Order: sequence, then structure tokens, then C-alpha cells
Amino acid sequence: MPSYKLGRVTKIGGTVSENSRPKGTPRFPEGPAPDPAGSRFERRIRSFQPRRSRVTTAQGDALRRLWPQWGLDIDGKEVLDLGELFGPEAAPGTEAAAAPTRVVLEIGFGMGEATAQMAAADPDTGILAVDVHTPGQGNLLGLAERNGLSNIRVANGDAIILLREMLTPESLDGVRVYFPDPWPKARHHKRRLIQAEFLTLLAPCLRPGAVLHCATDWEPYAEHMLEVLSAHPDFENTQEDGGYAPRPDFRPLTRFEGQGLDKGHVVHDLLFRRAATLAERPEDPSHP
Ligand SMILES: C[S@@+](CC[C@H](N)C(=O)[O-])C[C@H]1O[C@@H](n2cnc3c(N)ncnc32)[C@H](O)[C@@H]1O
Repeated sequence: MPSYKLGRVTKIGGTVSENSRPKGTPRFPEGPAPDPAGSRFERRIRSFQPRRSRVTTAQGDALRRLWPQWGLDIDGKEVLDLGELFGPEAAPGTEAAAAPTRVVLEIGFGMGEATAQMAAADPDTGILAVDVHTPGQGNLLGLAERNGLSNIRVANGDAIILLREMLTPESLDGVRVYFPDPWPKARHHKRRLIQAEFLTLLAPCLRPGAVLHCATDWEPYAEHMLEVLSAHPDFENTQEDGGYAPRPDFRPLTRFEGQGLDKGHVVHDLLFRRAATLAERPEDPSHP
């Protein structure tokens, strides 16, 4: 393993503060890149708030040791072969009996506790877990290691760029979006992830019949999700009454869900399947 030097590292109550790291040097040299797609893809409206958060000693350790094997940057430069990404040769030395037979994408895993639980409960499913949150990436890598899970890959960056540039058609067996940032203020609604344009981008990456599972504790966002999903020609509600779905047993309580429940919020699940055929796309002159 190559050696690298960090600036002066101060431990503050279990967290690492790299207060003298020279400007411009990466926080984790072999770990997740800051803003991996950089200016390659101009997206002014993002569904997340870029933030610099403290990384605990354990999370930093997991990032340094495990990122080269289990992490990937969403830089928009390569198209992913998910079979290869989750194949047994990608996880040498693990106890995986076989490579996962299906792959689901989880967008916005936060600290990753629910992701790790779902991966443990269903080893035949590979989870491509995406977030921009560095402490969460370290936390999920640590959870995967401690629980001997080889069916998680941690992707760093904007899920929109992953879908647009790095996934092949019909490569996903499902998508999970649990408690996405609700952006409650009207002027921020355009930042909400679940929008018609997002669904149009997502649908071709899903196999026909694959399910998009969303959950939120923010009532107005739940109503918005139900409206845009019901109106979108590429998706069909799994519920015959056209409404919310009962909470599926396989979805564990997530960290944000717990916080919402503590505030007395009501949680809604939405389960929509990709239609057998996609609606016609208008031609995009920027993609010859
Ligand atoms: C409110 S948190 C929910 C976390 C977790 N699912 C839970 O329920 O505890 C939403 C997460 O989505 C991530 N996120 C939002 N937009 C994203 C995007 N376009 N690509 C990747 N991650 C995104 C944020 O960084 C944040 O960690």
C-alpha cells in the first residue's frame, strides 16, 4: 500500500480535523474524490447541498482502507459493467458464495445503516449505493466490512450523472430512494430529486417491470411523488387503487425516517414498476 501524508491531524472527540491540510490536496488520497465529475457536467440545480462534514476516525480509516476495493467515483468518464462490478473477481478474499444475480441502485443512503441491513438480508442482490456524503460513505464501508458483506458498492457523486453517463440500458433491477431531501420551501422545490425529468432519465436504466421504491415522511413531497409518478408514461403504480403502498417488510427503519417519526410525521411508501415499453423520447440535438 502506498504511503501518504496528511496534514496535522487533530482528534476531537472521535472525529478527525485535518486543519493544516494544504489547500487543494485531497482529503483521502485514495478515497472518494471531492466533486468527482467537476466541471465536466454542468448541473446548476442539485438535489443535495454540498457540505463539508466531520469524518470520524473510524470512518476515515474505512475510507482509506476500503475505498480502493469497494468505492467508485461518479466522474462520468466510464460506462459501468455491473456484472463485472459485482462479480466474484471484484471481491477477492471474501466469503461470497456467488456474485449477486441482480443489482439495485440506492440513491441517497445517508449513513448507510438501512443499506447494510438490506444487503445482509438479501445477499443475491448487489446494492449500488450512491451518496455525496463522505462520513456516510466511510460509515457504510465500515458496516459492510464488519458484517462481511460483499454485495455493496459505494458510489461517490451525483446520481443524475451516474444515470446519464455511466449506466447501460436496462441494467438495474430496482431503485430505492428513501427519505430524499424534502426541500420544503417553494423556491427550492426544483431541487427535489423526484421530478418528471428524473423519471425520464431513470426509466431506460431499469429493466421492464423493475420497481422504483420511494419513501418519505414529508406529506407534500409524498403527494408530489404520487402525482409525477402517476402521470409518467414509463411507470405504473403497483397498487391497484393508484395510491401509496403498504410499507414493504424488506425496508428497514432508516435514520431519517426515525427522526421524522419522532416529530410525528406519517411515512408513505410508493412502489412503481417500469412499464414494458418506454414512451418515445424527443430527439436530443446535443447527443448526435
Ligand atoms: C435526507 S437524506 C436520507 C438518507 C437516508 N436514506 C435515510 O433515510 O436516513 C438524503 C440523502 O440523499 C443524498 N442525495 C441527495 N441527492 C443526491 C444525488 N443527486 N446523488 C446522490 N446522493 C444524493 C444526500 O447527500 C443525503 O445523504
